[in-house]
Amino acid sequence: MSIAGELEAIFLYDAHVLATDDPVATKVLADIRDEEKAHVGELMSLLRYLDPNEAELFASDEGEVKEMLEELGIT
Ligand SMILES: [Fe+2]
Repeated sequence: MSIAGELEAIFLYDAHVLATDDPVATKVLADIRDEEKAHVGELMSLLRYLDPNEAELFASDEGEVKEMLEELGIT
């Protein structure tokens, strides 16, 4: 739920960034949005610590994405 809340905040701040043409508001809101992204990273790290099985599931399909990147010539 905490991660979902952070993601919701990211989308909300991003919508506000896109909705304003004031450069100061854009800068401040984008900074807050990016802080929320950092919070997602912190919570994901906490989740991996608290639930190693979940961490394995997250990592299980990383290989598929790497294969797709290689097919696209992206390394
Ligand atoms: Fe946050």
